[in-house]
Amino acid sequence: MNVVLMGMPGVGKGTQAEWLERENGLSRIATGDMLREAVQQGTPLGRRVREYLESGQLVPDDMVGELIGRRLGNSEVRRGFVLDGFPRTRQQVVLLDRVLDRRGLRLDAALLLTASEQDIVRRLEGRRVCPHCRKVYHLASRPPKSAGVCDACGAALIQRADDSGEVVLDRIRLYGERTSPALQAYRERGLLHEIEGGGRPDEVHRRVREELERLS
Ligand code: AP5
Repeated sequence: MNVVLMGMPGVGKGTQAEWLERENGLSRIATGDMLREAVQQGTPLGRRVREYLESGQLVPDDMVGELIGRRLGNSEVRRGFVLDGFPRTRQQVVLLDRVLDRRGLRLDAALLLTASEQDIVRRLEGRRVCPHCRKVYHLASRPPKSAGVCDACGAALIQRADDSGEVVLDRIRLYGERTSPALQAYRERGLLHEIEGGGRPDEVHRRVREELERLS
């Protein structure tokens, strides 16, 4: 299956995409992770996008489109993919259509995870990430075994620069302005399926799995 996971910042796209990768063998393509990696490695792309990421602004469509185009060219995506964080503007929906056409691929569904704004803020503010292996934790719902330390590689956990204060609110506002038209584009094509994203991660996962079973 080829699916897109959509939803507000912090709704749990990454958490569910990781699950789908592990259980269903889908190739996970997360634009946020790819961009953060470029920043961390100091590549030319990383230097161009750093400020957008830190301030919670969207990276220009052509830059993300190029990244996705290259990644969807890899042979591993033929076994099925889950796109996490792309597309998030109407223009990116068009870009994705073009890339998929060129590669002879088809999108089966766009899954929209929903949750209250209160849940979203709680999830973002409590998120901690490993800067080394990128494992994602939450102070309450997914704490590391030893406070502040990554279970997998032992590195000190950090808070993402865009996960606190005003930047969180800016990201939520931007989602409403820029991503709603992308959702509408998939809704019009009958590809959009809403899934309640409240509750524990495993409960959300059960709903995602049931939806995918219905679609297959
Ligand atoms: P990106 O990294 O994609 O950020 P995002 O979409 O804002 O999503 P998040 O990663 O913040 O959240 P998520 O939904 O994956 O939640 P998670 O599973 O981690 O993008 C970052 C930036 O890159 C953007 O701001 C932009 O600058 C740029 N960018 C990326 N893609 C772009 C694009 N296409 N175009 C332009 N610019 C782009 O969960 C959050 C926390 O909650 C975690 O701690 C988790 O453990 C916890 N949690 C998850 N599920 C639950 C649950 N059910 N109950 C309790 N806790 C939970």
